[in-house]
Amino acid sequence: MPNTSLINDTRFDNFITQLTELIEGNATERLPEKIKPLLMDLVAHDDWLEAAYRQPHPDHYQQYLLYKDIQNRFSVVAFVWGPGQYTPIHDHQVWGVIGMLSGAEQSQSYRQEGREMVLVGAPVVLRPGDVEILSPETGDIHQVSNYFNDQVSISIHIYGSDIGTVNRFVYTPEGKAKSFISGYANSPLPAQGGI
Ligand code: FE2
Repeated sequence: MPNTSLINDTRFDNFITQLTELIEGNATERLPEKIKPLLMDLVAHDDWLEAAYRQPHPDHYQQYLLYKDIQNRFSVVAFVWGPGQYTPIHDHQVWGVIGMLSGAEQSQSYRQEGREMVLVGAPVVLRPGDVEILSPETGDIHQVSNYFNDQVSISIHIYGSDIGTVNRFVYTPEGKAKSFISGYANSPLPAQGGI
């Protein structure tokens, strides 16, 4: 089975080639930090993401798989936020690097403390060209929302696994964890809860 790439574009192809070389040469040592400049370069240009993967859904945000590594070492996903759409509070179980392609999104970090979810710091707003790193080691529980109530926003996410199949958690405001598997909007995997 070959690697899965759904984008036919030289810029994206070059990005995947560099990303694969980096991952093959660096094991896991500070990998997200090394990936950051590659993603910054990719999202500095909004000319490669095809219209099929820019479509919002009227009721919930969309996660379109763009690329999946054959060995499941990483996946690349486009998040498309309709006006005012947001995630539940959730974690990832693997590292992530997030770059803003168009519009803006807001991320609020949390930590689980007994029976409640406690805010960690102020919300972070990503604007086009900005890149943020998520790491389970330093705490990666967050809630993400479209910064805008009147326009679509799009961000590009790289995760250290085939994220659509990873068993991870959403949290209620009361600190109750519930497992979920996100799937992808454009894959036959069962989407559970549209998250
Ligand atoms: Fe997230």
